[in-house]
Amino acid sequence: MRIASVSDLHTDYAENRDAVVKLAIAIHEHAADVVIVAGDVSHKNDRISRLLAAMKEAAPIVAFVPGNHDLWFDVPFAPARRELNTWDRYRRELFELSSAAGAHYLPAAPLFVGDTAIVGSCGWYDYSMMPPAIREGIGDEVLASKQYGGIMWSDARFVGFRDEGGELMDDASVARQMERELLAQIAAAEVHPGVENIIVVTHHQPFYEVVKHTGQMPWEFFNAFMGSTGLGDVIKSSEKVRCAIYGHTHMVGEFDVVGLRVYGTPLGYPRERKGIEIGDVPKTRIGWIEI
Ligand SMILES: [Fe+2]
Repeated sequence: MRIASVSDLHTDYAENRDAVVKLAIAIHEHAADVVIVAGDVSHKNDRISRLLAAMKEAAPIVAFVPGNHDLWFDVPFAPARRELNTWDRYRRELFELSSAAGAHYLPAAPLFVGDTAIVGSCGWYDYSMMPPAIREGIGDEVLASKQYGGIMWSDARFVGFRDEGGELMDDASVARQMERELLAQIAAAEVHPGVENIIVVTHHQPFYEVVKHTGQMPWEFFNAFMGSTGLGDVIKSSEKVRCAIYGHTHMVGEFDVVGLRVYGTPLGYPRERKGIEIGDVPKTRIGWIEI
């Protein structure tokens, strides 16, 4: 079986929509059986639908995990709106949208193909990807505001995960919930008859060693929002996990984390691809698994 993966397609940019056509053609030409979309297509539903439909043209099976941008509410300040709960968007709206486009929505259930299970979660962040000394210096209370020294992580404006009582949840609680759901999926996949391989897809990053550290600000401030090390602990809970695919970072990378293949092939923003011809984009922005 041949699996292709893409992420961070950010199709609000016209240049990226052109690049996506190239990616879809390459995936089709290489006869992928499955294409995984590891989040951050757009905050606009019609763009997500069109992207998933385009990928359905490229491969028979499409699996989707949303990223933080896909979870954004297109309103001026979502956390102030009690009627908006990002869990509703994550669990229901995007599930329905994916299903309508013929794509498998990974947060709802694992995808079983032959002896392989593909499981996935958006994941979230809990500031554990920051160097501990810098995190301590800034303090979790400031990080929770997602603002520091005049810069802001935009989720602050467009995301509001609420608990059952309707109160806003802190980032660590959201991260723990995402980790629990991923753990349940891996546990289910492990005992599923005939499953020999598990592939894990998270939008946020699961391992500290995969995150680029510069020791400089504001780079390390943004690392607070890269992911959670708890996701990595969950991924390592099963020996059947063969590889872990991530998005979010906009940095192409391939790592060996204690014998586990961990990689991301984000498309990212057009300004981040300066010097790369559009025809060359598929060479580095599609991840491949033969299993
Ligand atoms: Fe992201």
